[in-house]
Amino acid sequence: MKNLILSMLVLCISLLPLNASVYKGQKYFKKNCLSCHGKALVFVTEKSYDQWMKYLDVNGDVIYNLHNNVDEAALSMKYFNSQKYRISIGHYRDFFLEYANDTGNIPACE
Ligand code: HEC
Repeated sequence: MKNLILSMLVLCISLLPLNASVYKGQKYFKKNCLSCHGKALVFVTEKSYDQWMKYLDVNGDVIYNLHNNVDEAALSMKYFNSQKYRISIGHYRDFFLEYANDTGNIPACE
């Protein structure tokens, strides 16, 4: 039993995104998007690579516009209006594209 847990742990660690930017994207997502979009990895894997490419186009404006003037998204606008959001777009992109549902990358550990 102990060995099993240990090998699971080793497996999890070795499956952590090699790319620090992917990891950052996931971290930012948890902090800024999770409250409305549920479990990060479920949300990400709902969409394909091409879909995410479209959402992340024009430097974040597509996602910005999806939230702007939407009542249920009102609470997110403080963040979307901030410089922080624009700076983080590259990390979101790396995270979303890494786990898009047609990449074959399966997020094993959260
Ligand atoms: C306060 C709640 C809220 C937060 C926080 C929020 N969103 Fe959303 N988001 C929404 C709502 C509501 C919609 C649906 C808008 C519509 O249907 O017009 C949406 C739609 C989307 C969509 C369109 C696809 C889909 O599945 O609906 C994407 C992509 C998205 N959000 C990404 C993000 C990202 C990335 C963040 C964090 C940076 C984020 N959202 C933070 C409320 C939120």
